[in-house]
Amino acid sequence: MIITGKYPNLRLRRNRNSDWSRRLVRENTLSVNDLILPIFLVEGKNKKQSIKSMPEIYRYSIDRLSEVVDKAVSNRIPMVALFPYTNSKLKNNNGTESLNEDNLVCRAIQYIKKKYKNSIGIMCDVALDPYTSHGHDGLLHKGKILNDETVEILVKQSLLQAQMGCDVISPSDMMDGRIGEIRKSLDKNKFKNVQILSYAVKFASSFYGPFRNAVGSNSLLKGDKKTYQMDYSNNLESLREVALDIKEGADMVMVKPGMPYLDIIRMVKDNFKIPVLAYQVSGEYSLICNGINKGIVDKSTIIEILTGFKRAGANAVVTYFANKIAKNLK
Ligand code: PBG
Repeated sequence: MIITGKYPNLRLRRNRNSDWSRRLVRENTLSVNDLILPIFLVEGKNKKQSIKSMPEIYRYSIDRLSEVVDKAVSNRIPMVALFPYTNSKLKNNNGTESLNEDNLVCRAIQYIKKKYKNSIGIMCDVALDPYTSHGHDGLLHKGKILNDETVEILVKQSLLQAQMGCDVISPSDMMDGRIGEIRKSLDKNKFKNVQILSYAVKFASSFYGPFRNAVGSNSLLKGDKKTYQMDYSNNLESLREVALDIKEGADMVMVKPGMPYLDIIRMVKDNFKIPVLAYQVSGEYSLICNGINKGIVDKSTIIEILTGFKRAGANAVVTYFANKIAKNLK
């Protein structure tokens, strides 16, 4: 630590005295370039369904998707993340709907790519939980999640999404070894330029509750995800997860959830020179909304929290607030 003076010569309040000066010495600034907007999809026509667990968040049918994507594009948000609500009729033990080339996500990717070209990026989760009747991200056999057998399906799911035009493949399943296998298969199939964003550090968290309601997997979920998602008591293990995924070919890594894990973002950032993204998850979103709606805190908490992600070292944040706050950032 370099001490450059002492009181009364040194008065740290001097730099804070006026708005222009505070702006001048500001160390971290949140911009729209730092935001990724998640979008929920639903089958059908002319649908914009509200979601009980998430205030002011909706599921869109493809024919109304432009309402939300138009906004994201005009706000200059760099990327959207697509999440399908799958009809329970289409769910089964092995999540085979994930490989249906006419499934909801595939059609949404094609629609967005055709209409918006390259003015906005598309990322898609790679995991089986929207499609399995037990709500797990992988294959469930005799009460256990099968790793290598799941990876084989994830590779196919990734390839399918890439073929549809997905820009950023985002495995969120936490199986071991999937990044390397997915990279290999993308490269073999002429998708060398499709990026991989690994949810490398994903904790088994209670903050995912509202999301599981939004995609319709919460009532189905048998047990918990603790045998594949990380134990939230750990931090050093994050470094192993990230190191492995970088070696296997990840272009970016994600830390998830967000606010309770700022220490992890900082640690990953200090240890690896790779873009680090944070996911401000559904439970965080809904808690903040409740605080605002009940008058406990005001709206400015949103930007304060998101700036905290930047300060912790995140290059970007996946946030359900993206479209809502974009105007405040211009
Ligand atoms: C599924 C997935 C989850 C989220 C993103 N992808 C839930 C889970 O792992 O159970 C959570 C996102 C959120 O809570 O906003 N693999």
